[in-house]
Amino acid sequence: MKNSKPKIIIKTLEQIEGIRKSSVLAASTLKTVGEFVKAGVSTKYLNDICNQYIRDNKGIPAPLGYRGFPSETCISVNDVVCHGLPGKYELRDGDIVNIDVTTILEGYYGDTSTMFTIGNVSEYAKKLISVTKDCLAVAINQCYEGNNVNLIGKEITKLAKENNFSVVYEFCGHGVGLKFHEEPEISHNETQEKGPDLLAGMTFTIEPMINAGKARCKIDKQDKWTARTVDGKLSAQFEHTICVTKTIPFVMSDIDNEWAIPKNIF
Ligand code: MF3
Ligand code: CO
Ligand code: CO
Repeated sequence: MKNSKPKIIIKTLEQIEGIRKSSVLAASTLKTVGEFVKAGVSTKYLNDICNQYIRDNKGIPAPLGYRGFPSETCISVNDVVCHGLPGKYELRDGDIVNIDVTTILEGYYGDTSTMFTIGNVSEYAKKLISVTKDCLAVAINQCYEGNNVNLIGKEITKLAKENNFSVVYEFCGHGVGLKFHEEPEISHNETQEKGPDLLAGMTFTIEPMINAGKARCKIDKQDKWTARTVDGKLSAQFEHTICVTKTIPFVMSDIDNEWAIPKNIF
C-alpha cells in the first residue's frame, strides 16, 4: 500500500519537555560560543567550542554525519546562505556570521541559529540582520492552533519585501524533535497552496534565510554543501524551535526571555 499522507507527529508532554531541554542546550551553546566570536578566529575553532560544550552537557551534535555532513555545526559567513562548513577561514572586521546548532539530548532534537557581527559592520548589513530577526518574530506570531502553516511564509515575505530583501525558497524550516527533519515542511515563502493547519503539540523550526539581493542560491561544487547567494550579496538567518500550544506560541529555544512561556500546552 502506498503511504499517501505524510505524518506530522503530535508530541506528548514528555516529548515536548525533552525537545525543550535539547533546544535550551542548543541555545546555550550559541550563548557560549558567542564569547569567542571575534576577528581573527577560524570558523573551525568556533565549531570545536560548540562541539565541546554540547558533549560536556551530554548532548550529541546532530549535523555530524547527517547525510554525510562533515561537521558538528553549520557556520555561514556573509554571502553563505546556510550549511557553511567550519574551516580555516578567519573572521574579519565587517563579517556577518550565522552559527546553527542542532543538538540531540536524551534522544530529542533541538535546532536554533543566530547571527553574530564582527567589529564594524555596515548599516546595510545591520539592517538585513534586524529585518531577518523580525521576519522570524512575525512568523512565530502566526503559530496559533488552527492557523494554516502557510501564514508563516506569508508574513515573512511581506516584511522582507517591504524592506526590499528576498526570501530564500530552496531551504525550509521543518518538523523537529524525535528526528532531525520531520513533517511538515515550513516554507518561508508566500504560497497559494494550503498546508496543514497548526495543532497543539506540533514542534517545528522556523528559520528564514533573507538575502540582500536575489533569492537564488548555488551549492559549492567542491564541498557539495555550502549554499551561497548567486549574486554574492549578503544573507542572514535566525532559527528557533517552536511548539504550538492551545494558548501562545512556545519558543523552546528562546533562553533570552524574548518570548512569554505558555502556562499550558494542551
Ligand atoms: N541545522 C540545519 C537546519 O536548521 C540543518 C543542517 S543540515 C546538516 O535544518 F546536514 F548540515 F546537518
Ligand atoms: Co532547522
Ligand atoms: Co538549524
